[in-house]
Amino acid sequence: MKKLSFKKKFKEKSKKWLRRQITDIYYIRSKKEGFRSRSSFKLIELNNKFNFLQKKTKVLDLGAAPGGWAQVARKICSEGKIMGIDLLNIKELEGVFFLKCDLQKNDAIRSVEDYFQGKVDVLLSDMAPNTIGHAKADHLRIINLVEVAIDLSNKVLKKEGIFICKIFQGGAQGELQKKMKKNFYNLKYFKPKSSRPESSEAYLIAKKI
Ligand SMILES: C[S@@+](CC[C@H](N)C(=O)[O-])C[C@H]1O[C@@H](n2cnc3c(N)ncnc32)[C@H](O)[C@@H]1O
Repeated sequence: MKKLSFKKKFKEKSKKWLRRQITDIYYIRSKKEGFRSRSSFKLIELNNKFNFLQKKTKVLDLGAAPGGWAQVARKICSEGKIMGIDLLNIKELEGVFFLKCDLQKNDAIRSVEDYFQGKVDVLLSDMAPNTIGHAKADHLRIINLVEVAIDLSNKVLKKEGIFICKIFQGGAQGELQKKMKKNFYNLKYFKPKSSRPESSEAYLIAKKI
C-alpha cells in the first residue's frame, strides 16, 4: 500500500478535525452563545457541580487563551477580579487583565500580587501542552504544568481557596496526589460532559490548607 505524504496526512488530519468541530454540539453552542472556545462549557459544568464562582470572587486563570474561561468567570464574578495568563496573546476582554507569560519560564507572582493586591480566592489552570499523541509523554508534560500551577498556588492562593486544574490521566498521578496532599485537602476528580470522551483529560479540584 502506498504511504501518504506528510502534506496529505496533515490535510487528512485537518479535515477530520474540521468535521469533528462542525458537528460538535459544544462547538456549535459556543459559537451561538458568543464564547471564545468550547472550553467555556467545562468551566460552567465545573462551577455547576462545585459552586466556587460567586459575585465577588477573585479568579486567576492560567492557560487562559483564547479567553473562554475568563468570559465565564467575568459573567459570574461581576464584582470580582479576573486575571488570565497565557504564553499566547489574548484578545482584550472588558474587566479582565490578561498577561502574556510562559509560566514554565517565569512565575508571574509579582504581577499577580500587584493586580489582586492580596491573595486570590480561586486558581484555575486549564494549561495544556501541545499534545504529541503519545499518551505517556503527554501525561508527563501536563504533570509538569500542574506542578507549575501548584507552585504558584502556594504563593498566591488564599487559605481555603479553590484550586482546579486540568490533568491527563496516567501513571504519575499517584505522585502528584502525594505532593498535593501537603498543601490541599478534599481532592476530587471530575470529567465534564463537554470534555471529549476519547480524551484522557479530567480536572482535579482541591481546597488549599
Ligand atoms: C486548552 S487551552 C486553554 C483554553 C482556555 N481555558 C479557554 O477557555 O479559552 C490551554 C492553554 O494553555 C496554554 N499554555 C500551555 N503551556 C503554557 C505555559 N507554559 N505558560 C502559560 N500558558 C501555557 C496554551 O498556550 C493554551 O492556550
